[in-house]
Amino acid sequence: MTALWDRDTLVAATGGRATGEWTGVGGVSIDTRTLREGDLFVALKDVRDGHDFVGAALKAGAGAALVSRIPHDSGEAPPLLHVGDPLFALESLGIAARARAKGVTVIAVTGSAGKTSVKDALAAILAPQRPTHSSVKSYNNHWGVPLTLARMPQETGFGIFEIGMNHSGEIAPLTRMVRPHIAIITNVLPVHLGNFDSEADIAAAKAEIMEGVVTGGHVILNRDNRWFDLLATKAQALGLSVVTFGENENASIRLLKLSQQSESASVEADILGERVLFRLNSVGRHQAINALAVLGAAKLAGADLARCALALGQWKPGDGRGARRRIRLDPIDPGSAFELIDESYNANPASVVAALETLSLARPALTATGRPGRRIAVIGDMLELGAEAERMHGDIAATPHMENIDAVFACGPLSRTLYDALPKARRGAWAVDSTALAPLVRDEMRAGDVVMVKGSLGSAMAVIVTALDALGQGRKKR
Ligand SMILES: Nc1ncnc2c1ncn2[C@@H]1O[C@H](COP(=O)(O)OP(=O)(O)O)[C@@H](O)[C@H]1O
Ligand SMILES: [Mg+2]
Repeated sequence: MTALWDRDTLVAATGGRATGEWTGVGGVSIDTRTLREGDLFVALKDVRDGHDFVGAALKAGAGAALVSRIPHDSGEAPPLLHVGDPLFALESLGIAARARAKGVTVIAVTGSAGKTSVKDALAAILAPQRPTHSSVKSYNNHWGVPLTLARMPQETGFGIFEIGMNHSGEIAPLTRMVRPHIAIITNVLPVHLGNFDSEADIAAAKAEIMEGVVTGGHVILNRDNRWFDLLATKAQALGLSVVTFGENENASIRLLKLSQQSESASVEADILGERVLFRLNSVGRHQAINALAVLGAAKLAGADLARCALALGQWKPGDGRGARRRIRLDPIDPGSAFELIDESYNANPASVVAALETLSLARPALTATGRPGRRIAVIGDMLELGAEAERMHGDIAATPHMENIDAVFACGPLSRTLYDALPKARRGAWAVDSTALAPLVRDEMRAGDVVMVKGSLGSAMAVIVTALDALGQGRKKR
């Protein structure tokens, strides 16, 4: 195994002092539960102090630990790298990783919704063309970004980074570490409003991503978004090349045609002057719009666009972001299945409407009894919407996609407004939280139904997804 970092380079990059017997590390970890043998364990202080886990990390096979003090349980002459502040050292290591990867083309993604989807799709379509490195999950914050950088191998061809924020001023230092060649702002939506005075302030905070873009680099902006002008003005002031995507006829990456089937979509688009036809394994206009940014970035990064478009047709959205599966109520009877659309990861008004569109396009199966399945929406509270939160929940009830939905189950105090605004015939049930709602949804499921689960991360809608998955697994054991 060639080491990701050898001891001398680590010492030089962090200004630390190495003790114990070790020569290098194969990876970088901050969590003993996912640590791999040979990793450098970084003792970060978050909810708990990582120094409390150094002993366990070394026992689990960590190659060395990055610490600011010697933990009491780390044994005799432990392999350590001593620094003043492990987070600062991790940032330094990230910066060193970026500097030494001479052949890398870096793409950074921010936005109110779709960051992880765009990042994952990019990584999936670029990996077959050059060695590709990307963020794990949504590792997009003050430790997730430097950690992802520190993990980047020197020979990386494409580096893809998700950058997020809850407050203004958070993205600027992260993009300066990442130094992207291409920055994408998927959109600006009224989410995390709680921490901001206005939507314009959110736009300005997203715009910070441009501050780290390398000279001569590109920024890819959503032409359909109401904050486009504000973002473009900043890009021009910074001397960046502005590339736009969307349905707007002036977009340089433009959606020409979208035909949606029940589980997939065909898209025709103009990608920077090249006309491309491709398939998507997902439904919903937002997915097609995300795909434009993905293919545009891939082309700017120098990838083969035709191969990327083909690969995109193979890609599926991840857990909680539109992943679909069939769950059999009776393990030996394929006709007993219902379909789950898992949108449980996060929610804001735009993504809830998009998810309801996806559900309204789904085709419930005809069952053996001849009774068609139903379209069922399960919706939890959208959080961090600020003072207008209740009204925004109520507005969801009025989306035209609701017409095609048979029943809505809702949980949480804000979603009560949505629930009460629905006609009686469409009301399934309301409960105070997802734990209370889960059994009601579970008992409702019949063969042929399609159920879509959506809500903010803090609304814990994954509890309902788990309960629905258990319907399939539980009966298999019998
Ligand atoms: N362009 C978009 N507009 C609105 N909603 C979107 C968009 N892209 C994805 N979503 C939805 O937002 C949720 C979060 O998606 P994700 O890709 O994890 O975004 P993020 O990383 O920005 O939180 C998912 O339910 C997804 O379906
Ligand atoms: Mg994310």
